[in-house]
This record gives sequence, C-alpha cells and structure tokens, in this order.
Amino acid sequence: MKVLVIGNGGREHALAWKLAQSPRVQAVFVAPGNGGTAADPKLTNVAISDHAALADFAQAEKVALTVVGPEGPLAGGIVDVFRARGLRVFGPTRAAAQLESSKAFAKAFMQRHAIPTAAFATFSDAAAAHAYVDAEVGKSGAPIVIKADGLAAGKGVVVAMSLPQAHQAIAWMLSADDNRLGVQHNTGKGGDRQPRVVIEQFLEGEEASFIVMCDGKNVLPLATSQDHKRLLDDDEGPNTGGMGAYSPAPVVTPDVHARVMQEIIHPTIAGMAEDGIVFTGFLYAGLMIDAAGQPRTVEFNCRLGDPETQPIMMRLESDLVDVLMHATDGTLDQVELEWDRRVALGVVMAAKGYPLDPRKGDAISGLPANAADACVFHAGTAPAEGAPVTAGGRVLCVTALGDSVKLAQQRAYDLLRGIHFDGAQYRRDIGYRAIRR
Ligand code: AMP
Ligand code: GLY
Repeated sequence: MKVLVIGNGGREHALAWKLAQSPRVQAVFVAPGNGGTAADPKLTNVAISDHAALADFAQAEKVALTVVGPEGPLAGGIVDVFRARGLRVFGPTRAAAQLESSKAFAKAFMQRHAIPTAAFATFSDAAAAHAYVDAEVGKSGAPIVIKADGLAAGKGVVVAMSLPQAHQAIAWMLSADDNRLGVQHNTGKGGDRQPRVVIEQFLEGEEASFIVMCDGKNVLPLATSQDHKRLLDDDEGPNTGGMGAYSPAPVVTPDVHARVMQEIIHPTIAGMAEDGIVFTGFLYAGLMIDAAGQPRTVEFNCRLGDPETQPIMMRLESDLVDVLMHATDGTLDQVELEWDRRVALGVVMAAKGYPLDPRKGDAISGLPANAADACVFHAGTAPAEGAPVTAGGRVLCVTALGDSVKLAQQRAYDLLRGIHFDGAQYRRDIGYRAIRR
C-alpha cells in the first residue's frame, strides 16, 4: 500500500521512516517533507500543501492511509476534508483540534470537566490583564505564566520571572499590530482576529510528555517521554519547540501513569464526547508532576510531539501501519504495542539564530549512515547538490538507543560530534533529569 505523511519536521521524518519499515508499505509520500525524507529510499516528497489538493493527490495515487503530523493543518480542518472524501486519515477534526489551537478553549474545557491544571484567567482587554498580574504577583509573587491564545510554534508562552516581564508579554500578545511572537490569533465572535491571553499560576515539578492514540472509543498509551523546552543547558534561555527528548521518562512511575490515565486522559476523551466532539488522533498531554506525584495538565496537543516522536519511533517494535489501521477502524482495543526495552534519546541540532531568527542555507557535512541503534532524523533541511543545507530552525535530531539513559546519551553525542554546520546550536545535557535520579 501507499501511505501519506503530512508535514516537514523531524517528527514526520521519524514517522515516515517507521512506516516505510512495514512489509505492507510500498511507498511513503511526505508532503512537503525535507532533505532527509527526500534522500531515503521508499520515501518521496510531494510539494503540495493545500488541503483539497492533498486529498486530490491521495485519491489519484490510491493512498490507503494518511497521517497528519503538525498542528497547523489539523487546526485548519484537513481531517474533515479527507473524511468528507471517504479517505482514511488519522488525526483530530478541526473541532477536536481546538484543545491545542486555543489555550482559552483548553483551559475552559479542563475547568468544566475538573481535569487538574493550573489556576488561570483569560483576557482580551489589556488593562484588565495588566491589573490581574499586578494583583496575582502581589499575592503569590513571580513567576507567573502568560500564554497567547493562538498557535505560536512553542513561542507563545512566557514564564515571567518578574512583574515587568509579565507586563511586556501581555503587551506583545494582546497587540494586534505588534505580533513579534508570531501568534496566529484566533477569531472572536464577530469573526475578527481577536488577541487573547491566558494568565496562569506557575506550577512546580517535573514535566513529561504523555501521548495516547484515540480511535473515538478506545485509548492506547504510547511510551512516555520527556522533552527539553528551553534553548540552553540547565533549562536556561527562551522556550523553543523542543531541544531534545528521551523515552521512557522515569518521572512517570507506574503510579503516576495510572493517575494520568484516570484523572486526565479518560476524563478528557469523555469530556470532549459530552461536549459533542469525538476525539480521534494522537492526544498529547504535557504534564507537570509535583513532588507528591500529582500530575497536572500544562497543555494539550492534538498530535505527536516533536522531538518526542523521534525516540518513541526508535523504540516502537510493532508495525505502525497495523496500529494505524486499527486506529482508523476503531479497534485499538485489539492492539498491544511492543517496545524496545532500551532507552532512546534524541538531541536536536538547531540553526544559528533559532528560535527568533534562524539562518538558512548552511551546508551540513558529516551525516552518518543510519545504524540499527542510531538515526539522524532531519527537520529544517533541504536537499542540495552534494549534501543537504539548513532550511529551518530545528535542523536535525540525532537519536540513539542504549541500555541506559547514560549510554543512549553517549551514543547520540558521539554521533552528533561528527556532524557539522556553521552556527549549530545544541544542548549538552539532554537526559540530565533521568541521569540525576
Ligand atoms: P505550553 O506551550 O503551554 O506547553 O508551555 C510551554 C512551556 O512553558 C511548558 O512546557 C512549561 O515548561 C512552561 N509552562 C507553561 N505553563 C506553565 C505553568 N503553569 N507552570 C510552569 N511552567 C509552565
Ligand atoms: N515538543 C513539544 C511539542 O511537540 O509540542
């Protein structure tokens, strides 16, 4: 069969790489793909982004299954377009994708269904928002968290360490003209773009990424993982889309796992259904787990994580095509996932200037051939004569398996040190929380 992966990041390269390993798969199309998916045998890039044109392509090529990677097309309703044509696609509808595309929607949803999350308030009026942070910081002190309502590729969240920083974040996020964080503002009741912010309590604890597959009835958890959101070592610097990840995450003990399923995942799927929205697709709960093992939801994503997918796919032993066929048939209850018992760890190499202004066009050299226990997944790369060049913020994710976090880390960094492009930025401490335990 032929399958189609939509997106161009490291997550999509890892998905396409894994799908191509299925004996049932003859070809994997990636739209639009990147320099890595262009080079792999069995993978073919397709330069289409319009949803109707993608559905035309899937029909013309007799694509048996489509998987959507990023939030943009999901929030734009690509799953609705494919389903209306009778095409098999795994992902949430536009209505379900609001769990990610609107922080205000997600917070109100969690409040309504008693799903543990940080206390919050939502504002579109700047004066009211400024007054609220004054009052909150006066009461409980900084930090306080300011979030733009719309999608912003991981950059719409500011953990303000001081009152002036909180005021500045509000000013940036609520201004319709000065959109320096690149937020896609959601539309208000009148249909206009209406900037809104969510202001929330700062949660203490350790984060983890908890991703499940939903077929509309059944829920199947994937292996746990942990991302590293900040640009610099020791979790310093600005938030990014994610600078590295490993799986499994030891902070998710069996007890925490059971609580997450019972207190967050099942109530979310049931709450959406109660509100009239059937959730299908990957559901990603970004968790903050406190010292007592209480998980709270920091955010929902309605897709796989990037870079979490890269280590998760390296550990997945089951045939992903079989799993996705069950997921689109509503029979995930018949699936038991098999995982490599080893740890997988991926380190992101980002372009100079990431996250604000990544430079493009730097030549990449020293890329190793993939091995059974190590893969370099491409993200912001483009094919070029001889070797690929950088073409986006996060460029590569160097991912390796090992018998422990330490060994997976060593293997990934050994590989990374052989790869070069000018201005490359990467963290040197991916996996440190698990190693410190
Ligand atoms: P989000 O896009 O909502 O996941 O936020 C991005 C990152 O900001 C998270 O991964 C956390 O590291 C941090 N963050 C967001 N909300 C909070 C919160 N309420 N308390 C502490 N950290 C937070
Ligand atoms: N790595 C975080 C995310 O995909 O949202």
